[in-house]
Amino acid sequence: QTVKYTFGLEELEQRLAGYLSVPKVIVVAGDSDELPVVKKELGRAVVQQMKNRVRSGDVIAVAGGTTLASAAEMMVPDPRWQNTIFVPARGGLGEKVEIQANTISSAMAMKAQASYRLLHVPDQLSEDTRRSLMQEPGVQEVLDLLSTASIVVHGIGEAKTMAGRRTTSASLRSRLEEESAVAESFGYYVNQDGQVVHRENTVGLQWDELRRDQTVITVAGGSSKAKAIDAYMRYRPSSILITDEGAAKAILEQN
Ligand code: BG6
Repeated sequence: QTVKYTFGLEELEQRLAGYLSVPKVIVVAGDSDELPVVKKELGRAVVQQMKNRVRSGDVIAVAGGTTLASAAEMMVPDPRWQNTIFVPARGGLGEKVEIQANTISSAMAMKAQASYRLLHVPDQLSEDTRRSLMQEPGVQEVLDLLSTASIVVHGIGEAKTMAGRRTTSASLRSRLEEESAVAESFGYYVNQDGQVVHRENTVGLQWDELRRDQTVITVAGGSSKAKAIDAYMRYRPSSILITDEGAAKAILEQN
């Protein structure tokens, strides 16, 4: 069972929603940097919020990362998932298979007893290859589905951590540092003013395709992600932020 209603969390949720201008914020107790169980609670909260919003026939776009992997772990069958289709938000981003969007969205769908599609595109594409892959009927079908997604679920990474975790060239790493990248999401790296300093070359959902009528569920926790969450949330559309006490306090304290 969740320990969400410990004294003070609701106040943190309200203050953070005001500061970041997000319609809804959910804060789970603890700091996932320190306690792995907190990441499970983040995952549980993601599933709960998806369940609150989903309608029969919905397409759900799911990004990668360890936080979303824990959401997949927490997924259970429910009549509400009937007829839903889970689709990876982006193609490969140089991550380990276990935390790629393809793996996570298919794992979620299987646990939910829903259906899913895979996006068969390799990492590190040249621009020409990316363009021609997008013409492939199998890829095109998934991209068309993605454009109809009514729910998008994604994480936010700390820029340096993400560049280190992925197959990132030394020159790109130093450019990210020079340009003061602080956050990463969907393969986009941004500075603290929300400006894009680099975009990974893969197919899938692009930031400017996120629509106001979609439910965008953002999940990221741990005090080490405070700056990243701040930079992403203040400049990109999100309907719900799910975070933890460690990150929430650090964001409010640094301002
Ligand atoms: C990546 C996603 O796989 O995971 C990113 O593509 C996200 O959008 C990142 O920033 C977050 O990872 P984690 O492991 O910190 O949840």
